[in-house]
Amino acid sequence: MDYGGGAAPVNDMHAHGAHAGTGTVSVADLTGPRTGEADKSFTLKASKQTIKLDSGASVEAWTFNGGVPGPEIRVKQGDLVEIKLVNQDIEEGVTIHMHGVDLPNAEDGVAGVTQDAVLVGQSFTYRFVAEDAGTYWYHSHQETLQGEGKGLFGAFIVEPREQQPTETADIAILAHSWESTNSLQPIIAFGTADQSSARTIAAGTEVRLRLINTDINEKRFRLSGTSFRVAAIDGTDLKEPGELKDQDLLLAAGGRYDIAFVMPNSPVTLTTHSDNASDGGGQTASLTMSPNGAIGQALDLKQSQPLFDPLSYGEADEVPFDANSTFDRDFTLVLGQKLGFYDGRFAYLLTINGKVFPDTPMLMVREGDLVRTTFVNHSSSHHPMHLHGHHMLVLSRNGVPSTGSPWWTDTLDVAPGDTYTVAFRADNPGVWMDHCHNLFHASVGMMMHLSYEGVSSPFAMGRATVNHPE
Ligand code: C2O
Ligand code: CU
Repeated sequence: MDYGGGAAPVNDMHAHGAHAGTGTVSVADLTGPRTGEADKSFTLKASKQTIKLDSGASVEAWTFNGGVPGPEIRVKQGDLVEIKLVNQDIEEGVTIHMHGVDLPNAEDGVAGVTQDAVLVGQSFTYRFVAEDAGTYWYHSHQETLQGEGKGLFGAFIVEPREQQPTETADIAILAHSWESTNSLQPIIAFGTADQSSARTIAAGTEVRLRLINTDINEKRFRLSGTSFRVAAIDGTDLKEPGELKDQDLLLAAGGRYDIAFVMPNSPVTLTTHSDNASDGGGQTASLTMSPNGAIGQALDLKQSQPLFDPLSYGEADEVPFDANSTFDRDFTLVLGQKLGFYDGRFAYLLTINGKVFPDTPMLMVREGDLVRTTFVNHSSSHHPMHLHGHHMLVLSRNGVPSTGSPWWTDTLDVAPGDTYTVAFRADNPGVWMDHCHNLFHASVGMMMHLSYEGVSSPFAMGRATVNHPE
């Protein structure tokens, strides 16, 4: 337990297992609205299928509704949303976690923390109000490395309550690396488009590309043929985002950037590739948008360009707290690596404060606390740190204060050597995952929980259970 310098609960019993908690409120009772007619209802049926990428490469996929990615789910801000998950034949079990959506805890879809994994023949219904507009995505949070990697994910878009009816092209782009039976290397694709693809968009159209990195490594994106703005990060719109040109975007695994531009008369190409050899480094996926729908050329991203930096981008705006606030809790989390045994195998372990899950710190808070967290990356890889149920405000990087538009994030890429200080308000009681979204790293230790005083989970994870959230 780490109380971050704040008060420890009076009745602090010893924690049993990873997240016993100390309280009398069960996470299972922290639900969304259980009654009332849903504004939008969806059914997602999980099943194993053989899928073909555009190139013809085949993937032994785990799918929602028979395809990968799963169906794009679009709702309006304020909608009461109901999603029924049915597991047809995935023996490993399935859940649905809405990544980046701050839901009531019981709707968070984490096996072993907020529910039991949904086994073959079972179903589970999630109900929640979509409070915040923005770009999110959903994925299974059971055997996540495998399940999400094989295709159990899709885009979740919450459109603003008032949307101006302009001519817009609003396109979600899910960048993923697929394991194919035809290739030793993973294959990078936008959805299933693993070759250059094209889309017809009339000149003058306002284009919003919602980039979603569903992969386990950070991804580099480049847009050529126009200047553009980064309109939103992790679902939150930015204030006065300026025009960018000749800058690459490095997107955290699990993170989202919305980019916006007005379609010119000539082609615009979006290319991604991985800087990381382990997921098909060197390969590219590309989408060319043009008034005549012609297929373009992927860009050569090996010629690197400066990287977009959110720290000083856009204009400062009002924030509910900042670096000068008084914090109730202060946590420092050092991200490291070491060789050792984990779950019976010898592996390169990814550690938090020298420990692997479940011995990593359990961040204990009380409802209403203002919490400051510092991530220090002492390892040699990127760690996209993802906190469930809350959004973190970036205060500084390597001691340099954030001066641009308020940078709210749910998935923060902490590069090797970097230190980030972030803050959030503990305003959503529950037991929440806080982990690296490089799901391989999570599977070798880099996970922890944020736990509220007075709340406990009746669910358990680990070998003796069906629940394996990593
Ligand atoms: Cu995208 Cu813990 O999840
Ligand atoms: Cu990591």
